[in-house]
Amino acid sequence: MAVVATAGTTDFGAVDPLADLAALAKAYGAWFHIDAAYGGGLMVSGRYRHLLDGTRLADSVTVDFHKTFFQPVSSSALLVRESAMLRHITYYADYLNPESAALADIPNQVDKSIQTTRRFDALKLWLTLRIMGADAVGALFDEAIDLAARVGSLLEADDDFELAAAPQLSTLVFRYRPVLDTGERLSEDTADAINPAIRAAVFASGQAVVAGTKVGGRHYLKFTLLNAEATLEDIAEIIGLLRTTGAGLLQSEVSA
Ligand SMILES: Cc1ncc(COP(=O)(O)O)c(C=O)c1O
Repeated sequence: MAVVATAGTTDFGAVDPLADLAALAKAYGAWFHIDAAYGGGLMVSGRYRHLLDGTRLADSVTVDFHKTFFQPVSSSALLVRESAMLRHITYYADYLNPESAALADIPNQVDKSIQTTRRFDALKLWLTLRIMGADAVGALFDEAIDLAARVGSLLEADDDFELAAAPQLSTLVFRYRPVLDTGERLSEDTADAINPAIRAAVFASGQAVVAGTKVGGRHYLKFTLLNAEATLEDIAEIIGLLRTTGAGLLQSEVSA
């Protein structure tokens, strides 16, 4: 019925091969939707816009402006290739939006969403685009993507951490799994126990909030970098905190 691609998966920021999937959908006569909730900001990126190549072949695209357009919650859109496609979510009520008015082309916001009463979520986005301009918003996302690449290199070169995958957008999935004196890495099981404990301890310390996820059933830590003010030094400091917390927890386990 439909092919749904993701432009920026929640954990890895991975972008599906959109043009290939569009061709697949076309071959089967299926609807082609792109979840660009996270990667939607690439639309205004100066350096990484090419990752969205193929998006114009989609029937519909969802974008969360409260993610990579840096808007306060909530500001989302369902974009459709032709406005007539919105007929699928249109219901006419005589007291509200009679079909006769639609046929007479009288503008009616009710036909454009599932909700009837809505906040003016578009206002902040409109103001941002008017005041900052799309290129400036895209430059902020580019900086976050570049910061993630630099943090990725830091983690990759660090024997105390394992990076699950090279970052594609602005997230990093990694875990504390140091190389021990024996030259071996900490065991999978101990790493699995210690990473959530590190997260909890760092949270309790009040110094940082680090997210978590699972890869192949194992616990990992996660950074989602979307603060344009964050520097490599800020993130390196948090990595240092994770390291000392992990080492401390390992030490107390050994002595227990
Ligand atoms: C890829 C993707 N799709 C959808 C969502 C859901 O977005 P929302 O919370 O705005 O409904 C997210 C949120 O993280 C996401 O990363």
